[in-house]
Parts: sequence; C-alpha cells; structure tokens
Amino acid sequence: MAPTDTLTGIQACVFDAYGTLFDFNAAVAARRDRLGENADRLSQMWRLRQVQYTWLRSLMRRHADFWQITGDALDYALAALKIDDPPLREELMQLYRRLDAFEEVPGVLAQLKAAGIKTAILSNGTPDMLADAVRSAGLQDVLDILLSIEEVGVYKPDPRVYQLAVDRLGVPPDAISFQSSNAWDAAGAAAYGFSVVWINRYAQPAERLPGEPRIELTSLRELPARLGL
Ligand code: LAC
Repeated sequence: MAPTDTLTGIQACVFDAYGTLFDFNAAVAARRDRLGENADRLSQMWRLRQVQYTWLRSLMRRHADFWQITGDALDYALAALKIDDPPLREELMQLYRRLDAFEEVPGVLAQLKAAGIKTAILSNGTPDMLADAVRSAGLQDVLDILLSIEEVGVYKPDPRVYQLAVDRLGVPPDAISFQSSNAWDAAGAAAYGFSVVWINRYAQPAERLPGEPRIELTSLRELPARLGL
C-alpha cells in the first residue's frame, strides 16, 4: 500500500514497548561510568541478541520468556566483551525493568486517550516486565491494556501475536494503528493487516521484508495529528 499522510477511522493505538515507548539504551547509559568505551557496543549487542533469541527460539519451538531471554542475551554480550562482573549484570537487569520512557510518550498517550482512542501495549515483554516498566514511567493511567506475547507463547512477528490485539481489543485490524520503532516489527504488523506507523527513531533504512508501514515518523510526537486529532 502506498504511504499516506494521515490515517482515518482508527479506534485503537497499539504500541510496541522496547525502543518505541521505553528507551532500551537507558539501562546501559545509567552505568556508562562503569562500562566506559564498551557501553554503546554492549547496549547494541544486548539488544541484537535479545531479538535474535526470540526469533531463534520461536523457530526452534523452545519458548522461554522475555525475562530469561533478556538475561541470556546480556550474558552473551558481556562474555563477548570479556566483562566478568556479576553485580553489574544484576544491576543492568534491574535497570531494564524500569527503563525511561521517551520524553513525548506521556503527553501523546494522554492526548490519544482524551480523544477516545483505546491505547495498548503489545510486546514480547512478560506481563511482570511490562507492569514494572509502565509503573516506573508513570503511564498506568494513559494505557488501557498491556498485552504480552506470553498469552500466545510465540514471539513477534508471528501473526498470532498481532491477532491477540484484535481479539483482546475487539477492534478490527484496519481500525488499529500499530506503532513500532523496530522496522521488522512494523513489517510484521503491516503484513498482518494493521495500519502501521514506523517510529524510525534511529534513522534506519527500510527493511526488505513484506509489509509496508503507512507512515514513517521520527518520534511519536506527530502521531495524534496523523490520526486527525
Ligand atoms: C517488544 C520488543 C520487540 O516490546 O521491542 O515487543
């Protein structure tokens, strides 16, 4: 579908969590003093292995929840950088449970809700991880529902994950606007049938995958205007 400037008839906005609402680099950034020049590489490698392990475990049909995968990925990244520091590992894991929200997030979610649009998270994160992240960022009142892939036992971009949002919200796919900063998640959601807004925070090139986002933005700030609010 050709990109358009605005989406009409949207009844629900569904958001990816990590990288879209919450800044996954915030955990490592908080310990930059201890990590020095390894900080950025650690954060990148941690994130990359984390999502790769979700895809690989889904293909292997050996599910483990996102908390375990996040720990496994961190262990891999620390080993690759030859960092042997169990207390630091524990600190980074705890920081991951209370990541900062990107600065525009509370205001945008409040605006959507005030306009009568349902707001939801649809994430790989476990229910506990999502509840902690939402509470620590103070977003409880501006999100209607937190949906975890644990309900279907398979990771994004399996279509069953996106179907979960349709089933739980009771809103058809074409009335759902799905926001993700992860281009592969945006592709998966578009291939499934959502109207997708790719939040390209990191100025990445488009993925060469089926499923085209309808709109590309650099943050969530412009989202309400693009929904005609
Ligand atoms: C999530 C990951 C993909 O929140 O960012 O589902």
